[in-house]
Amino acid sequence: MAARVALTGLPAQGLYRQTRRSQRATQAQALRRDIALTLFTELAAVHSFQPKPLAARRASALSGRVRVPGDKSISHRALIFGALATGTTRVRGLLEAEDVINTAKAVTALGAPAAKSGAEWHIKGRGPGGLTQPLAALDFGNSGTGTRLMMGVVAGHAMTVTMIGDASLSKRPMRRVLGPLKQMGLQVMDEGKETLPLTLRGTGDLLPVTYTLPVPSAQVKSAILIAGLHAAGETTVIEAEATRDHTERMLRFFGADVSARQQDGNTHITVCGGGELTGRDIVVPGDPSSAAFLVAAALIVPGSDITIEGVLVNTTRIGLYTTLREMGGAIEFLNTREDGGEAIADLRVRSSDLKGVHVPAARAPSMIDEYPVLAAIAGFARGDTRMDGLAELKVKESDRLAATADGLLANGVSARVEGDSLIVMGTGSVKGGGLVATHLDHRIAMAFLTAGLASEQPIIVDDTSMVATSFPEFRGLMERLGAAYQEPASAVPSSEHKQP
Ligand code: S3P
Repeated sequence: MAARVALTGLPAQGLYRQTRRSQRATQAQALRRDIALTLFTELAAVHSFQPKPLAARRASALSGRVRVPGDKSISHRALIFGALATGTTRVRGLLEAEDVINTAKAVTALGAPAAKSGAEWHIKGRGPGGLTQPLAALDFGNSGTGTRLMMGVVAGHAMTVTMIGDASLSKRPMRRVLGPLKQMGLQVMDEGKETLPLTLRGTGDLLPVTYTLPVPSAQVKSAILIAGLHAAGETTVIEAEATRDHTERMLRFFGADVSARQQDGNTHITVCGGGELTGRDIVVPGDPSSAAFLVAAALIVPGSDITIEGVLVNTTRIGLYTTLREMGGAIEFLNTREDGGEAIADLRVRSSDLKGVHVPAARAPSMIDEYPVLAAIAGFARGDTRMDGLAELKVKESDRLAATADGLLANGVSARVEGDSLIVMGTGSVKGGGLVATHLDHRIAMAFLTAGLASEQPIIVDDTSMVATSFPEFRGLMERLGAAYQEPASAVPSSEHKQP
């Protein structure tokens, strides 16, 4: 879905003559008003509170060569760094899913128009400190990444911005980002409040910080580094566990002074403030977190043999693939190459007999979004799969630890939560026949729609509307490979979707 940006002429200005500067400002205002209106209409459509349940049933062998849409993390960053850069950034392969479109709308509302032109997205960057106060609240829908990264942007600009989101996002913790950004000079106008909606006031005089991440979070790291671009001096983030490093890679690509060094087993990442980013051409690789569902499906549906082209295989993102190989999964990385500073490969996957494994806590940051799908197919493995270090799963789009365990139990899979661990007792087959409550969480929906392709009875998920936040092509791509989905005869309402 392309951001629909209508360029209008200047509104009537009476008898006053305008300077070119004020004309430009008025045009920008009109543009932002149009965008706010478009945003409103689209949001009304998105939040129709009409759940879309779907049933997955046993499929015959999956086959074919496909591509998955662009990586979500890289897409958000391309838009944001493009907006902060001087000149135009052109992006091919941008993920056109709701989360990313909301970030495109947000940067546009801040005065850096992002729009689709042919197969590319163009972002007209505003240069250092050049973004302007938006006319309306910025709505990030379901997206924690968009929200938290943009908090780093707002921190470095003298503007007041209200951020809002959907029911899921409005429950998610923001203190982890607001804490360090407040140390740098961000003001939170609703003092003491730590969830959206929030009104934030940034400043042109941000202070640099050295900050040790209390939780392994690339979103927090990135928000601080983005704010650090605007601070006077060096801002350093210290992380004990490596989290996805797209911000560091892409900031360097845009010309920022970013360095990383190891000290006492930690990584110290430093950005020098006050520099200038330069608009770039970016190609977004396929999202390994989306490819995960196709890979998992091919492993559990007997006789399958599929290839997914052009998938990002950055080592900070492929914990799931390492785990699935340890389980006995036939997954090959073919034609591994580099594009735009990121490693990509074609993945060939064939159905395999899986065995249960222990997934260590240290691997969690490199597969944090993939636990629901790993757990959903762990029932097809023989033996226990124990996943440790899952505390962060509790604060994702839903409490994914609980939602995953509940979905498994509803479908006849033995599973238990022990503190921050999830243990799935695999028997080699899954009964299915249950209803999964998705709690507005796209990955819970897709995980169980994957497991249902090999379970004895169909698996129904109560809603698939949220799938569009990250992977609108999910059903179409799965069906191209041979998956079997069907709308269940009667709609299944979930409590979250009841009209207020
Ligand atoms: C993301 C980081 C992860 C991940 C999210 C995308 C990013 O969140 O769950 O889907 O793009 O930086 P945390 O960094 O909070 O773990």
